[in-house]
Amino acid sequence: MGWKIGTKMIHERLQPDKDTGMITQSITPAVAYAFKSADDAAAVVSGEKDGTYYGRYGNPTVRTLEKKIAAMEGAEECLGLASGMAAISTALLAFLGNGDHIIVTKDVYGGTYSFLDSLAPRFGIDVSFVDCTDTKNIARAMKQETKAVYMETPSNPRLTILDIEQISAICNEYDVSLIVDNTFMSPYLQNPLACGADIVLHSATKYLNGHGDVLAGFIAGEKTTIETMRKKFMGDLGQQLNAWDAFLIIRGLKTLVLRMRQHCINAQATARFLESHPMIEAVFYPGLESHPQHELAKKQMKRMGGIVSFEVRGGMQASKLFLDKLELAMISFSLGDTETLVQHPASMTHASIPPEKRACFGVTDGLIRLSAGLEEADDIIADLKQALDEVAAQMKILQ
Ligand SMILES: Cc1ncc(COP(=O)(O)O)c(C=O)c1O
Repeated sequence: MGWKIGTKMIHERLQPDKDTGMITQSITPAVAYAFKSADDAAAVVSGEKDGTYYGRYGNPTVRTLEKKIAAMEGAEECLGLASGMAAISTALLAFLGNGDHIIVTKDVYGGTYSFLDSLAPRFGIDVSFVDCTDTKNIARAMKQETKAVYMETPSNPRLTILDIEQISAICNEYDVSLIVDNTFMSPYLQNPLACGADIVLHSATKYLNGHGDVLAGFIAGEKTTIETMRKKFMGDLGQQLNAWDAFLIIRGLKTLVLRMRQHCINAQATARFLESHPMIEAVFYPGLESHPQHELAKKQMKRMGGIVSFEVRGGMQASKLFLDKLELAMISFSLGDTETLVQHPASMTHASIPPEKRACFGVTDGLIRLSAGLEEADDIIADLKQALDEVAAQMKILQ
């Protein structure tokens, strides 16, 4: 039936148990599975027949979730893994081998940067960090050995928006794959595959689960690619997602659309407030007219997301003092939870990027990233205001 995404998020793959009628997804802890015959076992392991054969390669509870996320992203297949970084590293290793090259947008999550900067070269992978807001830079960075372009949009932490359709056209021209980290948006707000990407990634630790109690990641795309990732990479590296965590994400997804709508409303109100405060030097939020890619964001994203980044007047000292003065918002490395979470990228999530490179990635000393929670917007804003006023008074900044 042609349900809207909010309905699908609840009903897709919702199959009441045949024996008991229970609606809640059951959790299957099994690692081992019995087969009727040796031929049957061989058919499942070869992929000729559907089924689960060993816990490191899949699990029935995880499978329900994989199929649900595949449907939400409009993908043929999906693979659930133990974390967002497990999804990112598996996808990259599946596309890249010794001697290959990848183009990466210049502001990406610190963990992704760390993998590409320190681990990937050990496998003989060459990486170019490029400003992908100008697509000419991508064409210029292409080499004979280039196998993929990797991007986040909106990016972490500067909320840069990249044109997936345009970048996918360049990738097609050079016959390279486009991989998009869709963590900040969730499948409700943006579907990169529909814009031409080949692979979409998620850290489900964030919005998909949404309650700060699960680490998980997903890779969605074409069936043969995903099945290779399952068998050759996830299986061999042992990065599988467990059934209990899959159950929690299935539960979290039932409220994803409701949660995302409120995250977006709270982030928009917070961004507007910050823009008006004299202690704030710059606000980065795609929903503001002042955002350099505001028009593109309106075209590409259903709503503007729950993350706001901003620069506090007074640099490192003022921004850290601001975090210390907050009473409602909590200092935390994560995002996408029910609570408003704030962090200082230069010393926290992006500390693995050397200081001289951080500046060209837009991670300045005064930058704060805020993940708007599901509290009342007025309370979030009141908390930010009292903390900013305190910093201004204590550091005598606005006098
Ligand atoms: C955009 C983005 N991608 C990937 C990750 C990594 O996810 P995980 O912590 O689940 O490994 C993060 C973590 O913050 C992130 O912000």
